Amino acid sequence: MATAVAPDPAAGPRRLGLPHRKACDCPAHHLNCLTAKEWIKAQLGVWQFSYERRDIRDKALHPATYPIALARRCIELFTHRGELVLDPFVGSGTTLVAAQDAERNAVGFDLQKRYIDLSHSRLTPSSTSQQLAVCDDARNISRYLEAETVSLILTSPPYANLLNRRRKNKSRRGRERKNGQYLKVEQYSQDPRDLGLLPLEAYAAEMESIFRSMLPLLRPGAHAVVNVPDMWWEGERVLIHVALIRALQSAGYEVRNIIIWDRTNIVNRLGIFGWPSNYITMGVTFEYLLDFIRPPATA
Ligand SMILES: C[S@@+](CC[C@H](N)C(=O)[O-])C[C@H]1O[C@@H](n2cnc3c(N)ncnc32)[C@H](O)[C@@H]1O
Repeated sequence: MATAVAPDPAAGPRRLGLPHRKACDCPAHHLNCLTAKEWIKAQLGVWQFSYERRDIRDKALHPATYPIALARRCIELFTHRGELVLDPFVGSGTTLVAAQDAERNAVGFDLQKRYIDLSHSRLTPSSTSQQLAVCDDARNISRYLEAETVSLILTSPPYANLLNRRRKNKSRRGRERKNGQYLKVEQYSQDPRDLGLLPLEAYAAEMESIFRSMLPLLRPGAHAVVNVPDMWWEGERVLIHVALIRALQSAGYEVRNIIIWDRTNIVNRLGIFGWPSNYITMGVTFEYLLDFIRPPATA
């Protein structure tokens, strides 16, 4: 069942009571339902994905989506069928679509009603799992879920305030530069609760607090995967991934892996930004998948 939920503010959020127990026959100590052959493929530390027809690539619908295939790889690697996936910044609902494909239950949160509706429209009725899109601030998530019911947090959060500016397309030349995105602000909203309005330091503090509030929801030993790029701002490299690693470590998570999402197969065209005197890599050619765990309980 796919549902869009807009809680009645007067009533306050309610526990969602989503199914979260594994529905497969794998032994309890297995990390996932993968065969040995599938596991080998997932062991490479650099991943590539292609978009498919169901992916949202229209920036007018949502400015920053990841591919369904990326979400599915993470879900199949870190959960069993029937378990519960949480995306605190669900955007267009890609995590929910992948969870449905993989027969996992899932819940996603976003501030914007239009993204909740978009998420809902991408889901089909299912009898084997439930996916739910909830219109609320990620700061409130712990009110909706029971402790230790989530088997994976998977998300691509806002990138501090780095999209909240007019695009100048500096890596493009000629007519390419003045494409449909030129001088547009591709930030999700100007809602004061939107993390995409915050400068890096304030953003990292909020992320720390949100991830701290979600830690008790995660099963001990379970994974939290965060997808972010670094970006250029006024000629300087902004290390969003470093700020996030520090924030999540302070919130009690352990770093497990850093995976590179190699996007060279999907970038449109390389530019000559910086040539011939200033070497600079194009920001969009790779992003990070920061893989954390909730430390397992110690006896
Ligand atoms: C990078 S996008 C997620 C995109 C998603 N992975 C997809 O494939 O569509 C980040 C999302 O976070 C949402 N957001 C920003 N601040 C938020 C907050 N405080 N609580 C919940 N969602 C928030 C934005 O509206 C935006 O849709």
